[in-house]
Amino acid sequence: DWNMPDYVEEAIGRIRATVGHDGVILGLSGGVDSSVAAALIHKAVGDQLTCVFVDNGLLRANEARQVMDTFANHLEVKVIHVDASRIFFERLKGVNDPEEKRRIIGREFVEIFQGEAEKIIDAQWLAQGTIYPDVIESAGGKTKKANTIKSHHNVGGLPETLHLKLLEPLRELFKDEVRELGLALGLPRDMINRHPFPGPGLGVRILGEVKYEYAELLRHADQIFIEELHRAGWYQKTSQAFAVFVPVKSVGVMGDGRTYEYVIALRAVQTQDFMTANWAELPYSLLGKVSNRIINEIRGINRVVYDISGKPPATIEWE
Ligand code: XMP
Repeated sequence: DWNMPDYVEEAIGRIRATVGHDGVILGLSGGVDSSVAAALIHKAVGDQLTCVFVDNGLLRANEARQVMDTFANHLEVKVIHVDASRIFFERLKGVNDPEEKRRIIGREFVEIFQGEAEKIIDAQWLAQGTIYPDVIESAGGKTKKANTIKSHHNVGGLPETLHLKLLEPLRELFKDEVRELGLALGLPRDMINRHPFPGPGLGVRILGEVKYEYAELLRHADQIFIEELHRAGWYQKTSQAFAVFVPVKSVGVMGDGRTYEYVIALRAVQTQDFMTANWAELPYSLLGKVSNRIINEIRGINRVVYDISGKPPATIEWE
């Protein structure tokens, strides 16, 4: 039987016994798994843990601030915040292919993380928020094939050249157990219940070339969509929901004038395992409200569409 306070004590004991007086580094992404791993390890070894949070400029609205508030300010975890957005936009200039974008974002992340890791000279351990389904997956489960369709770069997959030992305290846990553990460790409920967010972030939700201007428009549209889903009580009824930036201009009218602006697509799905998914039957009134707000509040967007494609044959993300 699963008893949370006992489990936390046991896990802390195991981490202390494993790590001793060594330093530990962890790449914090803002996602549930790395957040819970960070909170747990911090509880076990305190300042022996250093987290590295790389802002690639492709995060959701307020994400960097929330991560820093929660970890650095509230939990008093040592967090190195690297604002690398300019480098990422620079590297992505002129790149249109989705897989190429993933490779660039993944490679750049590793490089930056590695640079920071080398500065922490007493670090012997690399901590990762690997959970049980990830363990099965990399052992060659059914998701292997899906991974060749889209390469999945996460905070994981850091190179062996770091010469660090791996610390993976969530390896035995399922997602719902990780969430429960996170709550027990005092992480905010909205961080724990957040939809999954891909490693390449908005980089694969801006179709084709990634530009700062597009990322800003998309962040704003996505924020409105998510806010209205929460208000309508639909956020927890969907497995993943987000906006997609479509770099195509279409004609509209505003007042007496003609507009010629970009398109935002909304995507919301329900799924058990993310291998197959249904589009969510969101109420028309909710969709209408989101559309009105996006078009009225964001200059540069004059059309909003809703994606009604299932997976398969479509994927959840557009790239
Ligand atoms: P698709 O689009 O393949 O997405 O139906 C299935 C799930 O995987 C996430 N996804 C990614 N996660 N790096 C990630 O860390 C990626 O490159 C990536 N591509 C897709 C997607 O958000 C969905 O939850």
